Amino acid sequence: MPSSTARAERIVGTVTNAGNQPDLVGNRFPVADEIDAANCPVTGELPEGLRGTFVRNGPNPAFEPIGRYNALDGDGMLHGITFGDGTVSYRNRWVRSRGLDVELARGEAIYPGLGDVMNFPSRELTGDAGPVKNPANTHVIEHAGRWLALWEGGLPTEVTRGLDTVDEYDFDGRLRGAMTAHPRLDPRTGELLLFGYSLFEPYLRYHVVDADGTLSHSVDIDLPAPVMMHDMVMTEHHAVFLDSPFVFDLANLGKGPMVRWMPEHGARIGVMPRRGTADELRWFEIEPGHVQHFWSGWADGDRIEFHGCRYDNPDFGIDNTTELGQRSAKDHNARPARFWVDLATGTADWEPMDDLEGDFNRINPAYDGVSVRYLYMSAFTEPDRHLGDFDAIVKYDDELAERTLWSAGPSGHVGESVFAADPAGTAEDDGWLLNAVYDDDRDATDLVVLDARDVAAGPIARVHLPRRMPFGFHANWFPEARS
Ligand SMILES: [Fe+2]
Repeated sequence: MPSSTARAERIVGTVTNAGNQPDLVGNRFPVADEIDAANCPVTGELPEGLRGTFVRNGPNPAFEPIGRYNALDGDGMLHGITFGDGTVSYRNRWVRSRGLDVELARGEAIYPGLGDVMNFPSRELTGDAGPVKNPANTHVIEHAGRWLALWEGGLPTEVTRGLDTVDEYDFDGRLRGAMTAHPRLDPRTGELLLFGYSLFEPYLRYHVVDADGTLSHSVDIDLPAPVMMHDMVMTEHHAVFLDSPFVFDLANLGKGPMVRWMPEHGARIGVMPRRGTADELRWFEIEPGHVQHFWSGWADGDRIEFHGCRYDNPDFGIDNTTELGQRSAKDHNARPARFWVDLATGTADWEPMDDLEGDFNRINPAYDGVSVRYLYMSAFTEPDRHLGDFDAIVKYDDELAERTLWSAGPSGHVGESVFAADPAGTAEDDGWLLNAVYDDDRDATDLVVLDARDVAAGPIARVHLPRRMPFGFHANWFPEARS
């Protein structure tokens, strides 16, 4: 275990070249150090009500990867942009996982990537850090006063508001197994709904955490096969799961992708009362399709509805057999879709919402679990973009079936939009979208601020970060506590 002295020292990364790794090219290449910068320059006008911290998580390997590197493998790095009294500051910190601490002590990587994950380093090398690194690189949330960096293969990792790592967190020993990077926080009750999948039975566990942080309800759920399940849906009274046939196939390790699209397994939507038992879980067959991220779900009588970005045929390239230098992920992209379950007739179905390809879909979090009108998404409108390399921010008005969009242009690369509510607002879209946008031409990242009421107008302000922020995954807005 690390000493507190070691944690006080800043980490310096040692990756010096992309090493023929497609997932380290361009703005996928990590930054090498941890910095603090005050008074970031701002173009445009920052809204008076925008006070708090935007934090984005993403992979940033500290050491030269062993073998083939997939972006899912990299050590988590948190980038925090804090809006105060007309000033903006920036800070970035690695998540000091137990695995990274062992590698820091040795001065080199010892853990292979997910494509070779069963090739465990020896116990002599890892000590108590375990055979698999939990890089905590996917998301960051707050619940019951704790900030948690998340990775779906392991426990959450608690971090401070200053972005320093505390340790892995297991809800006082009550969380057995992994926790999704996409739990659902009920803004009305303060409860956190979450699940974890496993490669071994039970393949799925579901949990409810009370508003005070007590994990008070757990259910083991039978699935036909171990699947990569990334997100879930919450209504006011239901927990909803999509069991899609994106199957872990350990026997395929070394031969091809570790997670394979196997539509012959079929797909099912599971619906259960939020604090129900496994016996109360009902399954509804649906055409196979995979969803990484859902917007919101809600119940209208016997009908449960939700939206998500749906892949016909996902492949995220967790595959060590692809030659180095070649991209392993396939560009099968997701499109927005509407799903429903009819509890009375026992049927479920879906329909496409739009032809535009996109993902990283978000809503105003105050509307999670109830009917939403406004759906935000990152999308592809420029040619020759690969999986996850979005250029546009989209807003759907689901009531009027309208789409508005702002594109960052041919040299622009947008991340995930996070909704920051206007404290003086009352409407669902009274607030701002914050998005870290990288520009090839300047080799720089701006945190752009869009008025959520008028996305097509483009940024109302841009915070120029002190240096580029490598592409990453998910972000959240942590409003300043108000007394
Ligand atoms: Fe995600």
